[in-house]
Amino acid sequence: MDKVVLITGASSGIGAALARELALHGATLVLGARRVERLEELAAEIRRLFPQSPAPLVQRCDVSVAADVEALFRAAVERFGRVDVAVANAGYGIKADVHETTEEQMRDIWQTNLMGSWYVMVQAARVMIPRKSGHIILVSSAIARRSLPQMGAYAMTKAAQLSLAQSQRVELAPHGICVSSVHPASTETDFFREASRRSGRAVGMIGKSQSAQRVAQKMVKLIQHPRPELWPAPGSRAALLMASAVPGVTDRALSRKTKA
Ligand SMILES: NC(=O)c1ccc[n+]([C@@H]2O[C@H](COP(=O)([O-])OP(=O)(O)OC[C@H]3O[C@@H](n4cnc5c(N)ncnc54)[C@H](OP(=O)(O)O)[C@@H]3O)[C@@H](O)[C@H]2O)c1
Repeated sequence: MDKVVLITGASSGIGAALARELALHGATLVLGARRVERLEELAAEIRRLFPQSPAPLVQRCDVSVAADVEALFRAAVERFGRVDVAVANAGYGIKADVHETTEEQMRDIWQTNLMGSWYVMVQAARVMIPRKSGHIILVSSAIARRSLPQMGAYAMTKAAQLSLAQSQRVELAPHGICVSSVHPASTETDFFREASRRSGRAVGMIGKSQSAQRVAQKMVKLIQHPRPELWPAPGSRAALLMASAVPGVTDRALSRKTKA
């Protein structure tokens, strides 16, 4: 795969798994996250396994800071001349009733999950429009289509990502740029440990889970054959569409489940 792929949140979970899968396909990687030592370890592993590929570019990037995202794109273009695919993957969850979510939690999750994705969309458009090609991918969630109790703040950011993706997809199509949203269900990553830490309560997986590698493999196919949305968990797209079509029935089912 002769593509330069930039991934935010590449130090763990889906982002790291995607980097490994893309390395296997010969992609050139630009890896951003705050824990740069984890990025360095991942890049060393990739260099060891694929010495013939260009070494991944590693840079500290806090996606909640616009200047960090801009600097990551600038470094990518300086080193590799272009960014073909930009993956806005960085994000986290929290669990709290809507009325118990603090203002700080609300602002922080919005700034990272949504503004962080938007900064990527802005920078990606800036570097891709002149080349009249590119692919922007937002890692949203299955929860974007129907929220769950105690997940309101997180689901808000994921639904907002989907809205931005839907708009930008049509806006950038005339420039030869595709925009996709990815909607994983429960995926085996550090996400739940981090959400539990941030929420001060246990946050567990919902339903059947998938490995991060499985999600990443499907994302590689999405990069090879771009399309508007990817729902990696089998059946999840239809189930969520149904759930949002009959909100009262879904509310009652969720209430029963919450009480059980
Ligand atoms: N796991 C699931 O069940 C699931 C389901 C649906 C959607 N998702 C979405 O998938 C994406 C990846 O999550 P994951 O499951 O792979 O969880 P994870 O293993 O906890 O990874 C999260 C990644 O996001 C990065 N990150 C968090 N805040 C950041 C910030 N301010 N700036 C830069 N990077 C930041 C972390 O890197 P640093 O801490 O090093 O910065 C880490 O690399 C998230 O957007 C999440 O909402 C996950």
